[in-house]
Amino acid sequence: MTISPEAETTAPAAPPIGKLTRPDNLSTTLDVSTMVDPDGGLVDRGIFTEEAVYRQEMKRIFARSWLFLAHEDQFKRPGDFFQTFMGEDPILVSLNRKREIKAFLNSCRHRGARVCRADFGTTKNFTCTYHGWSFDLDGNLANVPNEYAYGENFDKKDWGLVEVPNVQSYKGLIFGNWDPNAIPLEEALGDLKWYLDAFIDRDPEGTTVVGGVMKWVLDGNWKLAAEQFGSSPL
Ligand code: FES
Repeated sequence: MTISPEAETTAPAAPPIGKLTRPDNLSTTLDVSTMVDPDGGLVDRGIFTEEAVYRQEMKRIFARSWLFLAHEDQFKRPGDFFQTFMGEDPILVSLNRKREIKAFLNSCRHRGARVCRADFGTTKNFTCTYHGWSFDLDGNLANVPNEYAYGENFDKKDWGLVEVPNVQSYKGLIFGNWDPNAIPLEEALGDLKWYLDAFIDRDPEGTTVVGGVMKWVLDGNWKLAAEQFGSSPL
């Protein structure tokens, strides 16, 4: 997605490299259907406490859903960035020089350290504090100290940041999805758009985001927070 003025076509991300495969037995599917009784209005408490259920949710919900990242008003100048999460993945959202909004996994392609430790700001590049690899605003690996030490086959173009493949916005709200084949954002929002419109279009002059970001840390399962907004008065 782009922030006006009009941007040029985005260069394709670097192709995946390497020969790693993950064994099938690391991904088992848990049947949780008996833990919810919609007719009786009951849920097993384990849906809030069982780690296996939580891990499955990270893979089967958060890894393939549209997740809110930020608002377009947070990105005025190229290099403006904001750090957030998709599930447990730390994510950098930034505006590149073509005024395109990009989202990257905040994890260095060398040993996995974070390449940015600030919540938000403006930068020319993201530099890992471990061994100094530096990435440009398109996620490309731009500079490697002592590059000769990584061998003659080392090619910086193979080691850019992992990019969130699907980033789209709705009325200024930016969402990301790890699934490159996900249905379009507006289709996924469905009837929820009515509620968003009621909030965003309240003023004929539109909605502008000002100030910083307020955060709360809830030391509990993610569904506990969601449930507070959706529960009945009983
Ligand atoms: S972990 Fe980032 S440069 Fe080594």
